[in-house]
Amino acid sequence: MSKTVLKILLISVMSAAGIAIPLYAENAGDIPHLEMNGTAKQLIVDGKPFIILGGELHNSSSSSLAHMEPVWDKLAGMNLNTVIMPVSWELVEPVEGEFDFSLVDGLLRGAREHDLKLVLLWFGSWKNAVSSYVPSWVKTDYKRFPRVKNSEGESREVLSCFGKESLRADSRAFAAFMKHLGEVDRDDHTVIMVQVENETGLLNDSRDRSQSAERAFRENVPSELIDYLSKHKKSLIPEMREIWAGSGFAESGTWTEVFGSDADEVFMAWHLGSYIGAVAEAGKTEYPLPLFVNAWLVQDNFSKPGQYPSGGPVSKMMDVWRAAAPVFELYAPDIYDPGFKAVCERYVRSGNPLFIPEAHRDFSAVPKTFYTVAEHDGIGFAPYGIDEAVDDHPLGKTYRFFTDIMPLITEYQGTGNMAGFMETDETTGTVELGDYILEIDYDMFGKGDAPGYGLIIALAPDEYLMAGSGFWVTFSPKHGDKNRVGILSADECWYKDSRWTYGRRLNGDGNDGGLRAQFLHVDFLNTPRELPISSGFMPPMPVSPDDFTLQRIKVYTYK
Ligand code: DGJ
Repeated sequence: MSKTVLKILLISVMSAAGIAIPLYAENAGDIPHLEMNGTAKQLIVDGKPFIILGGELHNSSSSSLAHMEPVWDKLAGMNLNTVIMPVSWELVEPVEGEFDFSLVDGLLRGAREHDLKLVLLWFGSWKNAVSSYVPSWVKTDYKRFPRVKNSEGESREVLSCFGKESLRADSRAFAAFMKHLGEVDRDDHTVIMVQVENETGLLNDSRDRSQSAERAFRENVPSELIDYLSKHKKSLIPEMREIWAGSGFAESGTWTEVFGSDADEVFMAWHLGSYIGAVAEAGKTEYPLPLFVNAWLVQDNFSKPGQYPSGGPVSKMMDVWRAAAPVFELYAPDIYDPGFKAVCERYVRSGNPLFIPEAHRDFSAVPKTFYTVAEHDGIGFAPYGIDEAVDDHPLGKTYRFFTDIMPLITEYQGTGNMAGFMETDETTGTVELGDYILEIDYDMFGKGDAPGYGLIIALAPDEYLMAGSGFWVTFSPKHGDKNRVGILSADECWYKDSRWTYGRRLNGDGNDGGLRAQFLHVDFLNTPRELPISSGFMPPMPVSPDDFTLQRIKVYTYK
C-alpha cells in the first residue's frame, strides 16, 4: 500500500473516530520530515535520508545579503550541504503587523544558487537567555511585554515567559515566517528544519520572580505534566526520575512539594517549554517543517540552575519539555564541552535523534563528524562560526567524503551494523559487529598528537567496510569461540554516485600480513608520517595522503 493511500486511510479513520487531526499532519507530503529507519530517526529531504554536513554562521552574518555574498562560495567550497543561520524577529517585523521577508528570500536565493540547504534559527523572544533580537516596538513597550524580575523586584532585559502579549506577538510573527516559507519553498525544500528560539532558559537566577511568575509558582503542578510523567514513568530520563522520586512520585501538590529542591528549574522548563511550544505550533500549522530547540548545556556537575540557563532544554529537563511542547521533534545540544561523547550519550536517550547545531570549529570537528553520524546515527553535525573557518579546513575533505558515502551511512543507520569511534583519553576501544569482536588500537606509530577516529560497517557477518585515520583493528571471534581469525582480503575502495570502484589489494604489509586492518593518519591534521623502518613492514600510503579511502575487509576463522 502506498504511503499516500495509507495516509488517506489513517485520516479517514481518525476523523470517523472524532480524533482531531493536526492541520500539519494532513499535508506533510514530501516536505522534509523525520522518519524511522530501524532504530534510527532520520531526516528525509527530497524523499531520501539526508545527513546535515553543516556549519552555523556567526550570529550577525545572515542579517546582510551583501555580507553573505562571498560567504556562500566559501561554504560551498568547503563541501557543506547545509548552512545554519539566524532569522531574527526584529528584522522580519520591524513595525508591528508589517512583515518584510525580503532578507529571508535573499538567503533562500543565495542557498539555492550554491546548492545548499538551510536550517533557520528563529531568534524570537529569546536568544541565549536574553531578548536581544525582539523588535524595538517590543523592547520599548515593557508594560505590554513584561520583563523577568529579580527577587528585589528589578526588571531584567529579558522577556518573561508569563507575558501573554509577548507569546501572542512572537507566535504571530513565527506563524507569518513559516507561512512565508511554505509559500516560497514548499516545492524546493531549501529550508529543511527550523530551530525555535536559541539556547533558552534564565541566567543569574533559578526562576522568574515577576508577580505573574510568583503567582504561578504558588499554584499546583499542572495535571498535564503529572500525567505525562506518570505515563512515561518507566522511560523517564534517569535524572528526572530521581528528581520526582524525591517526593515518592507525588501526583499532586505545589512545585516544591512535587519536585523539591529542583522545583525552580522544572517550573521554568514547564513554562518556557509551554510558551515556546505554543510559538512553534503556530508556525507548524502554517508549514510543517521539523522543529527543534537547542540547549546551552550544564557545564559541570556542580553548576546550579541560573549558572546555566534555568529551564532550558538541558537533557535532564527533556521530559518536562516533551510534556509541555510535544511539537518539537528533537532536542539539540550545542557542544563546546570537552566531554563530547558523554554529551552525545545524554542526548540520544529515550529516542532523541542526535543533531549538533553548534560545536568548536577546530580540527576536532573531523573526528566528531565520524562519531556523530556513525556511532549515534546522527542527523548531522555543524561547527559554529563556519564562515570564519580557516582556508583548507580539513572539514572540507571530510564533508566531501561523507557526501560520497551518505547513501551507505543512511542505509546502515538504525540497523545495529555500524559503529563510529574517536580517540579521547583512551588508547583502545572495542566494537562488536557481525560475527566478531573488533579491537581498535589508536596507539599507532607516527601518531603525534592527532587523535584516531573512524567508522566500521558490517556488510555481512564476516565482511566489513572501514574508513578513518590513525587506528589498527584486530579481530577475535565472539562468544568464547577458540578459533583464530585471519584477514582473507583487504581491498582499497571508493563509493561515489552510488558506484563502487576498487584500488589496491592490501594483503601484505597493508594489513600486517593478515593480522590487523590498518588506517594511517590522514595528513590533514598535520600528523607526522614517519614510519619506523625498523618495524620490518611498511603499510602502503593512502592514494592521496590527505584524503579518506575505504577498505573492504573480509575475515575468516581457522583452527
Ligand atoms: C552559543 C549560541 O547559541 C550562539 O548563537 C553563539 O552566541 C555562540 N554561543 C558563540 O560562541
